[in-house]
Amino acid sequence: MLAPMTPRWDRVQQCADVRHSRFALFLGDARERLHDLPTESINTCLTSPPYWSARDYEHPSQIGQESDIEKYVQSLVEVFAAVRDALRDDGSIWLNLGDSYLNGVGTVNGKPPEKGWARNKQLALIPFRAALALQEDGWWVRNALVWHKPNAMPASVRDRLTNTWEPVFLLTKSERYYFDLDRIRVPHVTSDAVERRRAENGANGKAKGQQDLRRWLNSPRHRSTIDGLKTVRRRPNAPRAVELAAYLREALERNGKSIGWVAEQLGLPFERARHYFRTDEIGSRLPPEDTWLRLKALLNLDERYDEVMEVEVGDNVFRNHPKGRNPGDMLAVSLRGSAHPHFATMPRPLADQCLKATLPDGGICLDPFMGLGTTGHATFALGGNFIGVDVQQLYLDLFAREAEEALDTGLFDADRLAS
Ligand SMILES: C[S@@+](CC[C@H](N)C(=O)[O-])C[C@H]1O[C@@H](n2cnc3c(N)ncnc32)[C@H](O)[C@@H]1O
Repeated sequence: MLAPMTPRWDRVQQCADVRHSRFALFLGDARERLHDLPTESINTCLTSPPYWSARDYEHPSQIGQESDIEKYVQSLVEVFAAVRDALRDDGSIWLNLGDSYLNGVGTVNGKPPEKGWARNKQLALIPFRAALALQEDGWWVRNALVWHKPNAMPASVRDRLTNTWEPVFLLTKSERYYFDLDRIRVPHVTSDAVERRRAENGANGKAKGQQDLRRWLNSPRHRSTIDGLKTVRRRPNAPRAVELAAYLREALERNGKSIGWVAEQLGLPFERARHYFRTDEIGSRLPPEDTWLRLKALLNLDERYDEVMEVEVGDNVFRNHPKGRNPGDMLAVSLRGSAHPHFATMPRPLADQCLKATLPDGGICLDPFMGLGTTGHATFALGGNFIGVDVQQLYLDLFAREAEEALDTGLFDADRLAS
């Protein structure tokens, strides 16, 4: 499948150092080169920046060799601020970061300091410091995915556990964004019919009879897995109550009306009606269906919120989703060796899983620290176009060669790059 040529892709190509119909490569420091990209040109980004104080890429502009963690985190914030300009409003970032233990720091007169976290043997929590800084800079952190490495190297330590996982954060530019859960759903562990029968019959020492059944169904595990006992009305795309309240207040003002007048018209106590106009998180409420329709007429509201205020009726609170269940935020992917002179490659299944959810058909994916370009190969396999940035000419050359071959032969196999 080929991604269609679009004007935005043309504009990306114009400023690239290496151009191909399916990829565009940029040589240099991501903090500078990302500014060359047209605004709102990227759908998603998947990247694994150099970890702090780990590998020396022997380049004056490299990230990862900063003298302290604060400076490293600041470098990352700068990179992602530049990514944000190039990212569409509904875009997202998958960010994988590794941690490290502090060594030989923080000792005062041979003793650890009484306060402060910079001390010997400390797990520095770098990924989380970076995630917090990115949150402060305006990103939404939507997931901290656990990438479990079943074949992680055992550590030769005796006073702590071996580290077997790394976080992969899902960051978004806006509250609402492109995310196709259906593409990554996995089969349900239970079937609706079996679970319900088990509940009704009291099998396995679980509930028996309607009352117990209800209690059992209300436990978090079963709430979403059992065929419904009742119908539910819900607004799957409901706006935030405070947002709608601000909109209603504007309408109130425009119409020269008061909350008291609205309450009277609706036949509601003043306090109840006031909730729909409260712009504080604690007191603000969305009006129920019939009240919303009456408010529309009373305040001459336009169609702006019609779609999101629509109510869906169903009994599926207790039913399995027909396309499978949400895979959850833990993913087990083993590390693979690499035949290339670059040892920090991301495993393909990890890249595949992330991009399936956030790269739309024919979309554009960016890796500002592309290395050997695992993100690029995963992008091609999903039919998208790839933008890669790296300070090393060698990695651009290696990727271009491999990618051309893969695109010519149509082979985007996950094992191609493994030794
Ligand atoms: C951990 S590797 C990425 C590996 C990649 N995910 C893969 O699967 O091959 C980090 C890469 O970032 C590059 N790099 C370091 N500092 C950079 C900077 N300031 N701008 C762009 N790339 C940089 C390094 O050359 C290296 O290739």
